[in-house]
Amino acid sequence: MAKTKKSIYFCQNCGHEETKWLGQCPACREWNTFVEEKVTPAVSKTVKECREAQAVTLSSIETDEDDRMLTQIAELDRVLGGGIVKGSLVLVGGDPGIGKSTLLLQVCQRLSAMGRKLLYISGEESLKQIKLRANRMGEFSENLYLLCETGLDIIRRIIEQQKPDMVVIDSIQTMYNEEVGSAPGSVSQVRESTNVFMQLAKGLNISIFIVGHVTKEGTVAGPRVLEHMVDTVLYFEGDRHASYRILRGVKNRFGSTNEIGVFEMRKEGLVEVKNPSEFMLSGKPEHASGSVVACAIEGTRPMLMEIQALVCKTNFGMPRRTAAGLDYNRVNLLMAVLEKRLGLQLSNYDAYVNIAGGIRLNEPAADLGIVMAIVSSYKNRPIAEDVIVFGEVGLSGEVRAVSMPDQRVSEAKKLGFKVCVIPEVSVKSVGKVEGITVIGVKSVGEAVSVGV
Ligand SMILES: Nc1ncnc2c1ncn2[C@@H]1O[C@H](COP(=O)(O)OP(=O)(O)OP(=O)(O)O)[C@@H](O)[C@H]1O
Ligand SMILES: [Mg+2]
Repeated sequence: MAKTKKSIYFCQNCGHEETKWLGQCPACREWNTFVEEKVTPAVSKTVKECREAQAVTLSSIETDEDDRMLTQIAELDRVLGGGIVKGSLVLVGGDPGIGKSTLLLQVCQRLSAMGRKLLYISGEESLKQIKLRANRMGEFSENLYLLCETGLDIIRRIIEQQKPDMVVIDSIQTMYNEEVGSAPGSVSQVRESTNVFMQLAKGLNISIFIVGHVTKEGTVAGPRVLEHMVDTVLYFEGDRHASYRILRGVKNRFGSTNEIGVFEMRKEGLVEVKNPSEFMLSGKPEHASGSVVACAIEGTRPMLMEIQALVCKTNFGMPRRTAAGLDYNRVNLLMAVLEKRLGLQLSNYDAYVNIAGGIRLNEPAADLGIVMAIVSSYKNRPIAEDVIVFGEVGLSGEVRAVSMPDQRVSEAKKLGFKVCVIPEVSVKSVGKVEGITVIGVKSVGEAVSVGV
């Protein structure tokens, strides 16, 4: 019996399905996002066809410990939770031109040099363009195969024939399945293609990396369902004006999320930044008021960064406040705490708070740093160069404990800091650290009297 195509309306924002067109999506409340797409209804298997599947016990499943491939790019291996898991489907999202193709070509370069068979499929660039990029990167081994193709059937056939160890799909929005009928990049195309790649990855035990474009809002273009289907979601982000790039694990079925890897974009490709703290602190002004070094934890790794504040008298009735790289409301809240608990007349002052280097920091442990930077700028008194601070600040001005204080202190020690101002409750768990004076503080008042 011939399969008849059915019309379904998909919300291009969230992937919600309806049988008729609607002006507003009932799921995500976006207007005018429904697009008609033709889909072929799936033929349900009969009971007879399904009979071969069997349930097994957990203990009867065999796994190899070395089911992971190390890429030798330590920053990437850590974000993946210790290398690429065989048979996993990884989605790499990121803004245009951030370096997604570069990173994956570098992974191919490393793995193929180790004797693995790699297949790089590009639907966006010609072989010449890939070659030009590869020329900048250096030597490539013979184990890397390139393919410029967007047809899903052809890609599927080639993967099944060649059975490589890893496949890169650049990008999922260009993949086209004739059976689906709608334009490449539409919800049903993206979903169908991802489905095919998932079956290939699991069925043939091949790791597949999928590149996904990002919308203005910063999510992978196409439906969110894409994120549910894959095993790991990595986002590549960075400041347009800075050369460093941050690879962030958002979802990981084989390791912890929140891990980050830091890279620097150079002519020869992405270079790992082994010591991001040093990188973030380069260019810190000396003897300047309103600048303090705080320590944040990104995933499992401590990172030092400079918090800057500029507090100056307001010329208009309403004080202006801005926060770059920090939560604006958190900064307002901390200023209210300072006003109430320390009696600073901040309501007559503008305040501009910023994390140097363009990085984003959402950890409460940065609170004490923000407070110290604001007070330092307000009093126009610099904080000593060799001090780092961290701690969460509560509404009554108390300084509360944060996670992993010992790791933060040892990171400070590594970079030559001498004094750590930390929450009083965490002093015990840090213990004695040679070469570092640990000062425990109970309230913002105490912290300010110690540091500023
Ligand atoms: N000769 C060069 N020297 C230094 N950096 C370069 C050079 N050529 C390209 N780049 C960097 O590489 C980036 C492009 O990288 P890449 O093509 O990997 O990005 P992408 O994320 O794959 O982009 P797209 O979304 O278009 O596929 C450029 O934005 C630029 O920063
Ligand atoms: Mg690209």
